[in-house]
Amino acid sequence: MVKTRTVHRCAECGCETPRWLGRCPSCEAWGSLVEETPAHDTVLDQPIPLCDVSTHHAVARSTGVPELDRVLDGGLVPGSVTLLAGEPGMGKSTLLLQALGRMAERGSRCLLVTAEESSAQVRLRAERLGTLAPTLLVVSDTALPHVVGYVESVQPDVLALDSIQTVVDPDLPGAPGSVTQVRDCAYRLVQQAKERALATVLVGHVTKEGSLAGPRVLEHVVDTVLSFEGDRGQSLRMLHALKHRFGGTSELGLFEMTERGLVDVPDASSRFLVDRRAGSPGSAVAAVLEGTRPMLVEVQALVVSSSIPPRRYAAGLDPARLAMLLAVLSQHGDVSTANSEVYASVAGGLRVTETGADLALALAVGSARLGSAAVARTVAVGELGLGGEVRTVPQLERRLDEAARLGFTRALVPPGTAPRPGIEVVPVRDVSEALTRGLG
Ligand code: TYD
Ligand code: MG
Repeated sequence: MVKTRTVHRCAECGCETPRWLGRCPSCEAWGSLVEETPAHDTVLDQPIPLCDVSTHHAVARSTGVPELDRVLDGGLVPGSVTLLAGEPGMGKSTLLLQALGRMAERGSRCLLVTAEESSAQVRLRAERLGTLAPTLLVVSDTALPHVVGYVESVQPDVLALDSIQTVVDPDLPGAPGSVTQVRDCAYRLVQQAKERALATVLVGHVTKEGSLAGPRVLEHVVDTVLSFEGDRGQSLRMLHALKHRFGGTSELGLFEMTERGLVDVPDASSRFLVDRRAGSPGSAVAAVLEGTRPMLVEVQALVVSSSIPPRRYAAGLDPARLAMLLAVLSQHGDVSTANSEVYASVAGGLRVTETGADLALALAVGSARLGSAAVARTVAVGELGLGGEVRTVPQLERRLDEAARLGFTRALVPPGTAPRPGIEVVPVRDVSEALTRGLG
């Protein structure tokens, strides 16, 4: 980093002082010190051996919210800037306030600048959430220079700004939320974060279309982009990292929105299977992997005969994947849905993005189409190829252990899967064999 150093030089004797003084310390002349432009007087950091670089500031500090820490790979790194993005009403302000409260309880000095709500509104919410730690400071303001000023006077360990779209720098052109304002305000805050090793969190709103000067514009400026998502009608909230300079982006954080704020969902499998009606057609259980966490989810399908052209509907699943699996089922499994509407969903509001759920989805559709329920206490794990073959997926053992933990006794798995204690593995070569062995 290049540090500029201002100096004051005596016009009489040429003596140099770091601060302005009324009287020259050398020749004792009054009012002779003048500030010099620092351009030609820069101090450069010296390149040093990599092994001597201090990692002190690169160590993540826990936020006290386990599911947030999971996604951040430990917590917030001093000097880092994190964008918490999501649609309005998702719970960004709530998550932020809860995390700040926990960090403040553990002794961090946290400053929340709220540019959308009044301090009183934030207080009321904090009361409800039970996060009123004395070192959690709040101020309601929208002017960027003021934000910089508050940081100067309060010297926080963590700064949170809610939201980046509502702050403005009066010296810059553009309305609040415009691309220039959002980007330039963020630049200034990034600069401040690096200078002060200040962990900074910015809230950013996104619309359904992903528009609005926000996350898109800021992605390159910040270190970490977190996306907070969920179905408005459901209480489940999912948090994942779209970009993370200090760790991986594969972990999924799960929360439940309750009257007392966001509650961590550490045991996802139990939550997703709670409403399951075992024994009816159109349902199968998949063992999927989200980041390092295995979880069991129920995949449901409904197949009804229809007019042309038939509808296909996928909730929590990739529609293109569903279309492919329907083709595979028809070609290699003797299950035709050509003249049927097909509805498929993952129960509980989770979005499944991995192919390990293929087999369960095929089973659910087959079960719905044939009117035959899946065999009780059976999970299905595996990817389906275009040839109808069942392919292996990563970390099968962990998925099977999770299934056994939840009381499942039988698993349809790709060929070659090793036996596992606590659960019977049933290798299936292709989709047709899976239907035979998976349906009652
Ligand atoms: P909020 O954090 O304000 O969302 P965002 O900042 O992303 O716009 O929370 C939005 C919703 O969450 C709001 O509709 C009310 C609900 N909510 C609860 O259900 N329980 C709570 O304890 C809180 C604080 C909010
Ligand atoms: Mg908000």
